[in-house]
Amino acid sequence: TLNQQYDEKVRPCIDLIDSLRSLGVEKDLALPAIAVIGDQSSGKSSVLEALSGVALPRGSGIVTRCPLELKMTRKRDEKMRYGKKWYGKISYQDCEEEIEDPTDVEKKIREAQNKMAGVGVGISDDLISLEICSPDVPDLTLIDLPGIARVAVKGQPENIGDQIKRLIQKFIKRPETISLVVVPCNVDIATTEALKMAQEVDPDGERTLVILTKPDLVDKGTEETLKGYMIVRCRGQKDITDKVSLTEAIEREKAFFNDHVHFQTLYDEGHATVPKLAEKLTLTLVHHIKRSLPQLEEQIEEKLEQTQAELERYGTGPPTDDTERRALFIYKVTAFTQDAISLTTGEEIKCG
Ligand code: GDP
Ligand code: NA
Ligand code: MG
Repeated sequence: TLNQQYDEKVRPCIDLIDSLRSLGVEKDLALPAIAVIGDQSSGKSSVLEALSGVALPRGSGIVTRCPLELKMTRKRDEKMRYGKKWYGKISYQDCEEEIEDPTDVEKKIREAQNKMAGVGVGISDDLISLEICSPDVPDLTLIDLPGIARVAVKGQPENIGDQIKRLIQKFIKRPETISLVVVPCNVDIATTEALKMAQEVDPDGERTLVILTKPDLVDKGTEETLKGYMIVRCRGQKDITDKVSLTEAIEREKAFFNDHVHFQTLYDEGHATVPKLAEKLTLTLVHHIKRSLPQLEEQIEEKLEQTQAELERYGTGPPTDDTERRALFIYKVTAFTQDAISLTTGEEIKCG
């Protein structure tokens, strides 16, 4: 069955990367991840909330102001972390906080953004990390990024557009990153800056995935839908006002595509809806992990060599024996005193 295939082929790859991540390897090595990029208000955060099942800061104008790493772990067994069905944790700078209630996530992210990028419309390169563990999420790590803005608004520096592009480039230029380019159906894909940026760093399109959003805002199929891009429908402003839940939105999305004159074919071919996107992303990520493993191994070996050389410089480490400890202590104090004296007198004085 599909689930068996998942357990045998997909899960081990994701587990490998996750365990490397949890060892803190990411400080030294680049691990495969998916970066979500697109113009401002193209629907990036909406796609992420649909995938994660938790409400994120979202809306018109600049809302995502720091990179947000969303680490999702799907729990398939009864034994949940700390016995909970849903587990959340937010970390940034020196802060680390558990989140009890999924409905608190949005507020916590806004607080973190205000601390790092200031209250208002500024952006920051500092990463906010959100960990979610639940039976209802896909095994994916995605990074939400500020959207590309063409003009600065009041309170923003003139070069805000360049600042955001630089931040996006920082993520997508890494060969380990898959770029998920979000394009609304109601704009001309050819003018999409994010797609141009992705093509610049990945001319062969080996690690670029395009998804179309807001299909409910066009009355005919666009040319792009013929290219086999994935297409999703998320909550619009009216759905938010009407308090449509994320679960309900998934149902409505399915009905939308199932009945649609132009998009139904895409749906039948498995190119539409958020759950299909989750599947596609997971497979793409696993494929990419497999392809990245040789480089990852090289990086690990290189790092190991460096660390071993460093370790040798430390010799046998601190003494464990009392007499040796005392000798080391006296040696250190003497050396310190000599330094101190030579600093004050400008001369070296022989001690002992
Ligand atoms: P981001 O700036 O790219 O992160 O975009 P957001 O996710 O914040 O979405 C911008 C606006 O578009 C919000 O008001 C969303 O509710 C709306 N939106 C997102 N996806 C859809 C969609 O599929 N259909 C409609 N009608 N609106 C959407
Ligand atoms: Na937005
Ligand atoms: Mg956003």
